Amino acid sequence: MTEEKSIMDYETVALDDTEHALVIIDQTKLPGRTELLHLKTQKEIWVAINTLAVRGAPAIGDAAAIGIYLAAREIETDDYEEFLRRFREAKAYLDSSRPTAVNLSWALNRMEQVVLQAKGKPLAEIKQMLHDEAVKIKDEDIWICSKIGEYGLTLVKKGDGLLTHCNAGQLATAKYGTATAPMYLGHQKGYGFHVFCDETRPQLQGARLTSYELSASGLDVTLICDNMASSVMKNGWVQAVFVGCDRVAANGDAANKIGTSGVAILAKYYGIPFYVCAPTSTIDFATPTGAGIKIEQRPPEEVTEMWYKERMAPKGIKVYNPAFDVTDHSLITAIVTEYGIARAPYDVSLQEIRRKCGR
Ligand code: MRU
Repeated sequence: MTEEKSIMDYETVALDDTEHALVIIDQTKLPGRTELLHLKTQKEIWVAINTLAVRGAPAIGDAAAIGIYLAAREIETDDYEEFLRRFREAKAYLDSSRPTAVNLSWALNRMEQVVLQAKGKPLAEIKQMLHDEAVKIKDEDIWICSKIGEYGLTLVKKGDGLLTHCNAGQLATAKYGTATAPMYLGHQKGYGFHVFCDETRPQLQGARLTSYELSASGLDVTLICDNMASSVMKNGWVQAVFVGCDRVAANGDAANKIGTSGVAILAKYYGIPFYVCAPTSTIDFATPTGAGIKIEQRPPEEVTEMWYKERMAPKGIKVYNPAFDVTDHSLITAIVTEYGIARAPYDVSLQEIRRKCGR
């Protein structure tokens, strides 16, 4: 008898060197079906990122790094300047797939640095260096998430109730997730957490992805609608909130899935610590405050038709569908990074983290 594979046995993002393809789990089909997509063209990769087949800030960065390597591999020229021009075209195209998660441009810029620093080397060697850098970005993501797990776990105690919003889990990273990393580590160590997952309208990342991956790993998970968070907090069932983020401004304002700032306001009201888990690749030191973060607007159908593609609202109704919101730094108890825990004042503590990571 063959044992059924768990969702945790799949890689969220992988590079297939035989087929020269980016391999992802199609997250639009989860939890009903686990389908792998083998993406070879730039268009396919752009569409996968744009339609959330691969999503979550670190996973988008990992996918883009592999995507730009695959694009570079296809550039046939012996001329470095021509190669660089076409590399930059492909980079701009991939970068346009989603606007809010800074990991996308962070990963693409890091790949561009490889090309710039390798000027003078044979292009075949530069392509191999790009391959190695893409693999390194993904491998580092695993290390980063495990460190966030270690730091995050110091903030909670055995038996705590934890609440999370959206999916900042394994499905949003190369492994462990960011907001979920302390949960997975605590679970391994017998902490006995009770996790509440907000369903996360309109795309239901909490219901479809977070509650799926955490329960598949044996954690005690309760799914709630977004409008129930206040209730479970009031009942005293939540001792800490952990969320991921798509971009942290230099002052600590953090953009994450729409609804996150509401959860932060509730947490403040009930006196519950609110932790943002952020790899340093998600910190955008060039953006001073959250006001400078571009918020993605998504198609109205996500709100009017939901997943079973049946209209739940009048035809042609005006819809406002921002995919993210910005949580003010004053609502954030701490930002957990792979280089330690930053607390207010964030303009100072994030610079300290920056020094540690050498950016
Ligand atoms: O629109 P999504 O599903 O890409 O939004 C994802 C989130 O908001 C995550 O919380 C964030 O990217 C952090 S993932 C570690």
